Amino acid sequence: MPLKVEAAGSRCLLTKFEDQVVVVTGAGSGMGQAMVQEFVAEGARVAALDINFVSAKRTVEGLDNPESALAVEVDVSDVESVEASIRQVREWAGRVDVLCNNAGIIDSFRPAHEISLAEWHRTLAVNLTGPFLMSRAVIPQMLEQSGGAIINTASISAFSAAGGGTAYTASKHGVLGLTRQLTFDYGRQGIRVNAICPGATATGLTMPEGGSETLPDSETEIARTPAGRWCEPREIARMAVYLASEDAAFIHGAAMVIDGGWLTAARNPI
Ligand SMILES: NC(=O)c1ccc[n+]([C@@H]2O[C@H](COP(=O)([O-])OP(=O)(O)OC[C@H]3O[C@@H](n4cnc5c(N)ncnc54)[C@H](O)[C@@H]3O)[C@@H](O)[C@H]2O)c1
Repeated sequence: MPLKVEAAGSRCLLTKFEDQVVVVTGAGSGMGQAMVQEFVAEGARVAALDINFVSAKRTVEGLDNPESALAVEVDVSDVESVEASIRQVREWAGRVDVLCNNAGIIDSFRPAHEISLAEWHRTLAVNLTGPFLMSRAVIPQMLEQSGGAIINTASISAFSAAGGGTAYTASKHGVLGLTRQLTFDYGRQGIRVNAICPGATATGLTMPEGGSETLPDSETEIARTPAGRWCEPREIARMAVYLASEDAAFIHGAAMVIDGGWLTAARNPI
C-alpha cells in the first residue's frame, strides 16, 4: 500500500496505517497502552481491548485524537467475550488488519510443586489460550481481506527460566509455538505472525501499585545487562508498529528479542 505523506507545519507525517484497523489487547496499561498510542500516531484506527474497561477507556481518552480509537471490554481467556469483542470491532470499523495479542499476567514465581492448579490454569488461560482465541476470532476476517499481521507479546521467558514461575515460563514458551504454527498455517495466505520477546519493562506487571510479595527484585540483574536499565513500554510498541508495517513484509514467524542484552549477559546462575 503506498504511503500517504501529509505536510504538518515543517514536519512530514507518514501515515503508514491510514485505513488500517488495529486490535490491541491489554490496552489499559503498559505496553498495550503504548501500542494504542503508537498505532494511532501512525494513522490507524485502534480498538483498545482490556479486561479492565475503565483503564482501556482511560487509554483512549488520553489520546490526542480519541475518535481514532474504541475502548472494548474483553476477557481474552473467555471464548464468548472474545467473539463479542471482535463483533464490536467489526461493527465499529468493518475490518481487522493487525492484532496485537499483548494481554498477559505474571504468576507468583512458584516452582511446580508449590503452584496451585488454579494459578496454573489461569496463567495459561490468559497468556496462551487468550492469543489463540483472539487469533481464531480475527483470522477469518483477515483471510477475507487476503492478509493481516498478528503480533504476540511473548517474553524472554519464551527462551529461559526464572523470568517468572512454572506457569508463566511455560505459557510464554507456548506463545512462541503458537506464533510458529500460525505462521506455518497462514503465511502463504498473507497473514504474517511474529512475536516480540521483551525483557524487564517498566509497567504495572513489574511494578504493581501497592507492591508485590512474590515479584523478585530485578534491579541487580538489570544493572548487569548491557543496557543497564529498564525497557520503556514505547520501545516495545515501536517494534509492534514495525512488525505490522510493510517494512517487515519478509518477516514471518520471528521472535524479536528486546531485552537490553538480558538473555546474553544478565543471568547469573544460582
Ligand atoms: N513488563 C515486563 O517486564 C514484561 C516482560 C516480558 C513480557 N511481558 C508481557 O508483556 C505483555 C504486556 O504486559 P505489561 O508489562 O504491559 O503488563 P501490564 O500489567 O501493565 O498490562 C497488562 C494488561 O493486560 C490486561 N489483562 C490482564 N488479563 C486480561 C484478560 N484476561 N483479558 C484482557 N486483558 C487482560 C490488564 O488489565 C492490563 O491492562 C504481557 O503479555 C506480559 O506477559 C512483560
